[in-house]
Amino acid sequence: MDVLRWEGERLYLLDQRELPHRVEYLPCSHYRDVAAAIRQLSVRGAPAIGVAAAFGYALAAFNYSEDGKVALSEYMEEAARELLATRPTAVNLRWALDEMRAAYQALNGKSLKEIRDGLLAAAFKIQAAEKKRDERMASFGASLIPSRACILTYCNTGALATTGWGTALGIIREAHRQGKDLHIYVPETRPVLQGARLTAWELQEAGIPYTLITDNMAGYVFAHGGIDLVLVGADCIAASGDFANKIGTYTLSVLANYHNCPFYVAAPLSTVDLTVKTGQEIPIEMRDPREVREIGGKLITLEGCPVLNPSFDVVPHQLVTAFITDKGILKPPFEEALAAAFKGGSE
Ligand code: MRU
Repeated sequence: MDVLRWEGERLYLLDQRELPHRVEYLPCSHYRDVAAAIRQLSVRGAPAIGVAAAFGYALAAFNYSEDGKVALSEYMEEAARELLATRPTAVNLRWALDEMRAAYQALNGKSLKEIRDGLLAAAFKIQAAEKKRDERMASFGASLIPSRACILTYCNTGALATTGWGTALGIIREAHRQGKDLHIYVPETRPVLQGARLTAWELQEAGIPYTLITDNMAGYVFAHGGIDLVLVGADCIAASGDFANKIGTYTLSVLANYHNCPFYVAAPLSTVDLTVKTGQEIPIEMRDPREVREIGGKLITLEGCPVLNPSFDVVPHQLVTAFITDKGILKPPFEEALAAAFKGGSE
């Protein structure tokens, strides 16, 4: 199923808020529609956000009207700014927009039609490259999975989160394809249930055995010896190897550490920001309190009750066993390993 589709000067985004019950596409004819879709989690997952924003930026060139009121470059800069502001933690968003800005610069002096076509081609290229990166991660990562394993994953890191194969879930898919005997534990991932709604759905479709648990059951499963390894994605990896991922990942990393369980993080290098030195510098997105007060739009507590809703938390690099990237498996010391991985350049 396509996570996004370009058709007749419009971007159609699979509305992930409606899954698994309804498969609906959100038509975006303006870049601001794409920005709104990213903000409201219709499209989510760090790499998918980047791809959607790339198409959103291309769409801006189609939205531009040559009436002389605003210069095209000013219009494109404003579009990039608005798209970038949608979700502050995901590095892939800024990475993809930087790529698109560079593509725009390279089209300098061309006609509006050539710029539109050129930017659209650049967005498709980012999407295709994403899929290749997922495939590379899947084959590196599958080598770490034993022939029989119970794996705890978190949030949703599948095709829905990247538009390709997925990061952590892409590895699980590949290991399953290789005939490994897997059982996946899927915490529901409050507040908006990416685990229960999206990961369970993707695993079910792929025929991979899984068990859904509530987030507070993870400790129980570890304590009963039910987990061989943890495999999660990331939204931002700092130069030190500290990384941010969906709120609750830190708790899982501490549990894994206590239970001597390998804790793997799968992410392309486009999720790494070497200018962010440690986890303390990672900007954490705070979201609408209604996400905590409600489930599926239904109020589950007191209207207006005080709420904390950070979308991500930070795992210190000391709790990470290895990063599985599109450039290979990185082991500690991570600062050196990450810097070396970048020497060859991120694709
Ligand atoms: O808020 P979301 O759904 O965008 O959060 C997604 C995650 O935390 C994923 O684990 C992360 O983006 C990696 S996805 C390949």
